[in-house]
Amino acid sequence: MDMNHRKTLNHCEAPVRSQEAPSIMLLKNLEEEIIEGSEKKSVLAQQTHEAHQLQVRRSNHLPIAVTVQAKVALKPGRSLMDWIRLGRSNQDLNGFKGSTMDISVEELTKHNKQEDAWIAIRGKVYNVTPYMEYHPGGIEELMRGAGLDGTQLFDEVHKWVNFESMLEKCYIGKLKVTTPIHKRESTPAQPAQIKNLQQNGPSLAALKPPSGPVPPRFDWFQNKNSVSLVIYTKCKHMRRDCVIIQRSELTLLCILYIEDYNYFVNIELANKIKDNYDVRIQKETGKTEIVFPKETESQWSSIGRFLDQHNTFRNTKDVETTYHSCNIESVSEVSHDCKLLCIHLPPELSMCVPLGHHVHVQHNISGMTIARSYTAVIKSLLPDKQDDRLGSVIYLMIKIYKDGALTPWIGSLSPGDTIDISYPEGTFKEERLKDVTDLVLYAAGTGFTPMIKLVYHCLHVDQKPARNIKLMFFNKTENDILWKDQLDSLTQDFKNFTVEYVLSEANDNWQGQKGRVTKEIMETFTPASTKDSSNLLICACGPTAFTEIVSRYSKELGYKDDSFHAFLG
Ligand SMILES: Cc1cc2nc3c(=O)[nH]c(=O)nc-3n(C[C@H](O)[C@H](O)[C@H](O)COP(=O)(O)OP(=O)(O)OC[C@H]3O[C@@H](n4cnc5c(N)ncnc54)[C@H](O)[C@@H]3O)c2cc1C
Ligand code: HEM
Repeated sequence: MDMNHRKTLNHCEAPVRSQEAPSIMLLKNLEEEIIEGSEKKSVLAQQTHEAHQLQVRRSNHLPIAVTVQAKVALKPGRSLMDWIRLGRSNQDLNGFKGSTMDISVEELTKHNKQEDAWIAIRGKVYNVTPYMEYHPGGIEELMRGAGLDGTQLFDEVHKWVNFESMLEKCYIGKLKVTTPIHKRESTPAQPAQIKNLQQNGPSLAALKPPSGPVPPRFDWFQNKNSVSLVIYTKCKHMRRDCVIIQRSELTLLCILYIEDYNYFVNIELANKIKDNYDVRIQKETGKTEIVFPKETESQWSSIGRFLDQHNTFRNTKDVETTYHSCNIESVSEVSHDCKLLCIHLPPELSMCVPLGHHVHVQHNISGMTIARSYTAVIKSLLPDKQDDRLGSVIYLMIKIYKDGALTPWIGSLSPGDTIDISYPEGTFKEERLKDVTDLVLYAAGTGFTPMIKLVYHCLHVDQKPARNIKLMFFNKTENDILWKDQLDSLTQDFKNFTVEYVLSEANDNWQGQKGRVTKEIMETFTPASTKDSSNLLICACGPTAFTEIVSRYSKELGYKDDSFHAFLG
């Protein structure tokens, strides 16, 4: 299924109905199929609005009103593959037949119209006029950066998008900054520096966010056999999968995921440590201790030298996307068009992907570097088929689109090939499940992927027999249903787990539900008794149109905003 339009948001306000969609616009087939006929027109119209913005009220644990933007439907012939093709053609995309020049701020600001739009990102000026209709976020969104230094705007939405490669042919030149440039701000000011009060002072002071969690404190200890790095996170939700460790012979980088922030420990160690290590987390205080055995017994006079970024605490959206070259260990067929990839991380990296989070996969397609997001899954939903190599392998379940930009390449990968994977990202919080007694999941196509770990977690890891888990899984045909055998087997083993399959193109033998997502179908599936309860969590994932409609219906059915979580990308 087309998962091209996912963004993580909480329950959104019901979108305003708008005018008829222009006929030249098209929504991807699946989106049209999944949505009930009567709703199709309005969703189509919403989707084809160039800037598609949803006012999203975040739930209790994120009590700030934010605006979340989603992708829009593009005109036929304006897909990413079409943009790649245009880039390969000899068309003059920068407007100067490829020649480049330094651009003054005054000059940049003149090019702020749709038919003549330049944008500066990280000191480089691009003519984005030819890209307008290809921009997946829509023309209006791209125009927000026209004639300006759009770096901050760009980073806020998709810092991981490789603009340098995608806009290579649109590059005009370097931005000459002589006067202060007008930057359009859309978030609070950047983190301010705070005084570093630590005993074992780092080379860089911690950066305190304007709001959000308190910056952690770092310390280290040793005995003759081992050295311990201690991070006082003050976060009660610290878990092993919130800690990424990357090391070479003497350098050590630890990244801690603390709510929406990353805390960095980056050290060139004074002496060698062994490969194995232990992570100990004190639940009540969030104190996180990473213990490394010393290679030789000795007393170290110091921990070593603090490197760039050590003891910094930054919002994850401000952290640059880093990729690691990983090895494909195995590839298996999940369905006729979907594969399960087991990816081996490099030996120096230990990384788990938290529940509901995704990684980016990056590859150069016909000279353009393309990045796409994929939710990490597990080897199987069945407990006896798990891969216990925690931190060293990740699994991705990916639908291959024959005419897609990136997935045909992914589909061609075999064991032994390499794939570039980023650190995890995402906003779902595992602790959100703590008091949930009714978990209701709506998935369409590969929108099933975030549900995999959720189901596994609730049935096998954080077992609560009193918690009911219900999955409604929308697909075209029976052949499209991912891991049906495993899901069916779980329903046999667990009385508190039910699955309902709904097919839009069922054949005559199909005994289950047919059709698309409707308010009625949701009304009978979501427990009415929990309407006002904080113990209910409804999750939705699929094409944006699907997720939005599930969000809208659950709101119309009277479920509370903070009972809803959507995975939209
Ligand atoms: C947070 C997140 C998590 C995700 N997790 C997963 C996951 O676990 N598994 C998974 O399989 N996917 C997942 N996705 C989707 C994934 O990121 C890609 O979007 C998907 O793999 C398609 O990539 P592609 O480049 O091959 O296809 P694309 O080039 O994007 O094309 C996909 C399809 O859309 C059609 N298309 C493209 N542009 C147009 C247009 N303008 N008009 C009409 N049709 C068009 C193409 O022809 C093709 O059929 C996720 C997305 C997000 C945001
Ligand atoms: C600076 C102004 C810009 C704004 C406000 C903006 C906004 C958006 C929005 C709202 C989306 C949809 C949400 C999402 O999928 O994450 C989006 C998607 C996208 N934008 Fe932009 N954008 C800007 C500039 C650019 C530029 C210069 C490029 C050039 C490469 C670009 C490339 C993309 C791509 C590739 C996507 C799809 C991401 C995906 O696959 O998920 N954007 N943009």
